[in-house]
Amino acid sequence: MSTEDALAAQLQHQRTWLVTGAAGFIGSHLIETLLAHGQKVVGLDNFSTGHRSNLDQVRRCVGESAWSNFRFVEGDIRAMDDCRRAVAGCDFVLHQAALGSVPRSLEDPLCTHQSNVDGFLHMLVAARDAGVQRFVYAASSSTYGDHPALPKVEAQIGKPLSPYAVTKYVNELYAEVFARSYGQDCIGLRYFNVFGPRQDPFGAYAAVIPRWIEQLLRGEACAINGDGETSRDFCYVDNAVQANLLAALATDSAAANQVYNVAVGGRTTLNELFALICANLQALGVAVAEPAPHYREFREGDVRHSQADISKARDLLGYAPAYTAAQGLQATVRWFWQQHSQQKVVNQ
Ligand SMILES: NC(=O)c1ccc[n+]([C@@H]2O[C@H](COP(=O)([O-])OP(=O)(O)OC[C@H]3O[C@@H](n4cnc5c(N)ncnc54)[C@H](O)[C@@H]3O)[C@@H](O)[C@H]2O)c1
Repeated sequence: MSTEDALAAQLQHQRTWLVTGAAGFIGSHLIETLLAHGQKVVGLDNFSTGHRSNLDQVRRCVGESAWSNFRFVEGDIRAMDDCRRAVAGCDFVLHQAALGSVPRSLEDPLCTHQSNVDGFLHMLVAARDAGVQRFVYAASSSTYGDHPALPKVEAQIGKPLSPYAVTKYVNELYAEVFARSYGQDCIGLRYFNVFGPRQDPFGAYAAVIPRWIEQLLRGEACAINGDGETSRDFCYVDNAVQANLLAALATDSAAANQVYNVAVGGRTTLNELFALICANLQALGVAVAEPAPHYREFREGDVRHSQADISKARDLLGYAPAYTAAQGLQATVRWFWQQHSQQKVVNQ
C-alpha cells in the first residue's frame, strides 16, 4: 500500500485537529488536506504573517460541506487563554504558528522569541492540560547551525547561527522535557526550506522561491545572496503535509518523542534554482527576458550548504516524499503564474 493510501485509510476515522498558524503557508495546506479527508479542524492564527485569503482559498478548494468541519479562532499563542480556547476538545495539535525568517530574528530577536518560545510553551502547556494525544510541531533545519556534516543527521547539531535557530532548538528541548516530565507525546519536524503555493512572495522576509517567481512574473530583477553556490534541500509543501500526518498518526512507540528531518534528501544551488524557475516560466510561455540576476553580499546567519538525511523519517514514520524539488517547482511556478494571470484579468 502506498504511503498516501495508508494515510487515507487512517483518516477514515474522524478526529479533531488543531492547526496553529492555519492562515499561513504550511498551516493552510495542512487544513486543506485534513478537511479534504473529512477531519474536524480548528485553526488558530493572529494574521501576523498569514492571510485571510489563504483561508478563503482553502474554503474554495475543499467546498462548503468539508468547510463546515472547520472552526477558526482568531487569537495569539502569546496569550494563554487563546491557546486553551483553541485546543479544547482536540485529539492532535499540528503547531506551525511562529515568526519565520533568520533576518527577521536578527533584527528583532525579542519579537521572534515571544512567538516562537513563549508562544510555543503556552501551546505545549495548553495541549498537555487538554490531554491531546500528540503534539506535532514545526522545528527547523536551522538547528544544525554551524555543524559542517552533510547530509544532516538528526543527532548531530552544531551551534545556532541566529536567534531564530535558538528558538527552534529551545522548542525541541521543551518538547523533550514535556515528554519526560509529563508524558506529553511530542514529535518535532525539522523542515528544510519548504516551498509551494500560497507561500508569501512579498515583504522583506519573503523566501527565495516565491520572491523570485513573483519578481520574474513582474519583469523585475532578482538578486542572489552570495555567489549562488549556496545550496539547499528544497522541499515541496505536500511532502511536509505528509510528514505531519504520519507523525500525528504513528502508532509505533519508537516513533514517538523524536525529531525528524523533513526534506527530500537532494541539494540544489541558488544558481540552479534560478535557472529552473526561469525554465518553468518559459515553458508556460512567460517571456523571461535575459534573466540576469545580480549577485550581492552573503546574508548574515545563513548556512552555506544544507541537505537532509531523511532515513530516520522514512524508517520510523514511513515518510516517502512524493515530490522531488524539480516536480514541486513545476507545480509551484504554475500556481503563481495562474494567480498572476487571474489578477491581470481582474485588473483589466
Ligand atoms: N517555510 C519553511 O521553509 C520553514 C522551514 C523551517 C521551519 N518552518 C516553520 O514552519 C512553520 C510554518 O511556517 P510557514 O512557512 O508556513 O510560515 P507562515 O509565516 O506562512 O506561517 C506562520 C503562521 O503563524 C501565524 N503566527 C505567527 N505568530 C503567531 C502568534 N503569535 N499567534 C498566532 N499565530 C501566529 C502567522 O500569522 C502565520 O499565519 C513555522 O513554525 C516556521 O518557523 C518553516
